[in-house]
Amino acid sequence: MAKLEVMDHPLIQHKLTIIRDKNTGTKVFREVVNEIARLMAYEVSRDMPLQDVEIETPLVKSVQKEIAGKKVAIIPILRAGLGMVDGMLDLIPAAKVGHVGMYRDHETFEPVEYFVKLPSDIKERQLLVVDPMLATGGSAIAAIDSLKKRGATIIKFVCLVAAPEGIKALQEAHPDVDIYTASLDEKLNENGYILPGLGDAGDRLFGTL
Ligand code: PRP
Ligand code: URA
Repeated sequence: MAKLEVMDHPLIQHKLTIIRDKNTGTKVFREVVNEIARLMAYEVSRDMPLQDVEIETPLVKSVQKEIAGKKVAIIPILRAGLGMVDGMLDLIPAAKVGHVGMYRDHETFEPVEYFVKLPSDIKERQLLVVDPMLATGGSAIAAIDSLKKRGATIIKFVCLVAAPEGIKALQEAHPDVDIYTASLDEKLNENGYILPGLGDAGDRLFGTL
């Protein structure tokens, strides 16, 4: 089974409280989602392999380290995943960005794919699939199915708030995918919303409430 990491750093917990608050408006919500994504990128990249590289300092020749291994692509699940992209790019600026459009049918909660545009070399890249919410897990599972069908092999899933139901479903469907979340919340309500959660992430990011 792949890794499940709950990133409960104090800064992340503090910022999550801000975006959970229903009185937080769109501007601040968007800024703080990006700030959390930036902090998460630091931790998600912790196991990136390094290789030796010879350089010259102003004083001597020296062997130092540089990032090696597969290059990164960030894959937001539309819409709400877009809110995490800039924060991730702040720390991994050379990453390419692919998009998977997925919405949940409001009655069945089943994911519906409506758009896919990916870098041509996703087989050679490590993919960071980002979406603030992991609720039933349907959207994440379908997005990752879609990426694997197109040849992706190394995938991490990064979210802000996860429900236990979504974690279980994603781990069962894709046991090879590491999951990083800023919070493991209590449960889903009868409408498939995470409790306590933060509401509809896409609507809060884009002001479409
Ligand atoms: C939200 C969220 C996830 C999905 C999670 O998207 O951004 O993609 O729901 O729910 P699930 O785990 O039960 O699939 P939504 O369908 O509201 O679309 P949007 O991002 O366009 O608002
Ligand atoms: N999607 C959201 O945006 N919020 C939830 O709580 C569940 C799914």
